[in-house]
Amino acid sequence: MMDWTDKHCRYFHRLLSQHTLLYTEMVTTGALVHGDVARHLRFEAEEHPVALQLGGSEPADLAHSARLGEQWGYDEINLNCGCPSERVQRGAFGACLMNEAALVADCVKAMADVVSVPVTVKHRIGIDKIESYDFVRDFVGTVADAGCQVFVVHARNAWLKGLSPKENREIPPLRYEVVAQLKRDFPGLTIAVNGGIKTDDIVQQQLQQVDGVMVGREAYHNPWWMASWDALYYQDESRERTREQIEEQMVLYMEREAREHGTHWYSIARHMLGLRNGLAGARRWRQVWSDHRLKTLPAHEVMKLARTKPNEIQPEPAEQML
Ligand SMILES: Cc1cc2nc3c(=O)[nH]c(=O)nc-3n(C[C@H](O)[C@H](O)[C@H](O)COP(=O)(O)O)c2cc1C
Repeated sequence: MMDWTDKHCRYFHRLLSQHTLLYTEMVTTGALVHGDVARHLRFEAEEHPVALQLGGSEPADLAHSARLGEQWGYDEINLNCGCPSERVQRGAFGACLMNEAALVADCVKAMADVVSVPVTVKHRIGIDKIESYDFVRDFVGTVADAGCQVFVVHARNAWLKGLSPKENREIPPLRYEVVAQLKRDFPGLTIAVNGGIKTDDIVQQQLQQVDGVMVGREAYHNPWWMASWDALYYQDESRERTREQIEEQMVLYMEREAREHGTHWYSIARHMLGLRNGLAGARRWRQVWSDHRLKTLPAHEVMKLARTKPNEIQPEPAEQML
């Protein structure tokens, strides 16, 4: 997710679940062909398994970018055919590619020809007011013929005109039954569903119908949910963790990032502000970790402050004298 699932966020999420597949933000082929490749692709070994999501529609540029992705160690290359933003439409990629299944097939083939990791596609169930099932079925069929075995399906249409990207994640209705139908029609493909999934009940229901579930906003806002996933979905009960341990590991990471790359703790901590949601004192903890006045403190000092209960805070010397 753009501006959210950067490498720092993924490092944090990986501490919560060892097995869940993580995705990068969408990286455009333009950024990789003309830009600072290391800035876009650098990630930590601890993040595996992680998929690089690409945005683009030129087979040669996508092949070049996919090759770079594999060289940098990504476990999967995913093509974005679901983003409805105006900027992305101007670049003629994202959700509008659903109108061009043959071009997407060429893109997938170009990428699959040059990498050995899986090339996958994320898409919607339709665009604008096209609600016919045949549209998405033909899209998946054409792209699968080019070598894509895994489809992540955001179970709502993208309305290309008149809605902001945010509205496009909320207003077009969710139709999970379309994704289930895809799985029935293409039993040999791996089909994962996405959109509005917020509880284990919904995950369990969906897993009766499809092969996987992608969770976006809920995982970001309530990351502690992810701490139960290894045991629930990957038969791994080996790691018991507390929120405090996760926070401590993040502080070590922040200090390493500061030392080695000059990264400020502030741009890392922003991703973990939901960690204590639902617990007493969560608000204060969040306020400390997002207080830009503390920017000059080292991360372990910020953690100490965040953990101090309000009644334990010592008044400043100047206040004591009054
Ligand atoms: C801030 C933000 C950025 C997003 N950026 C991307 C992106 O780069 N690529 C993508 O495929 N989807 C992106 N999405 C869409 C999500 O991946 C997901 O499809 C959508 O939010 C619906 O799933 P959810 O209800 O679980 O969040 C983004 C969503 C949000 C909230």
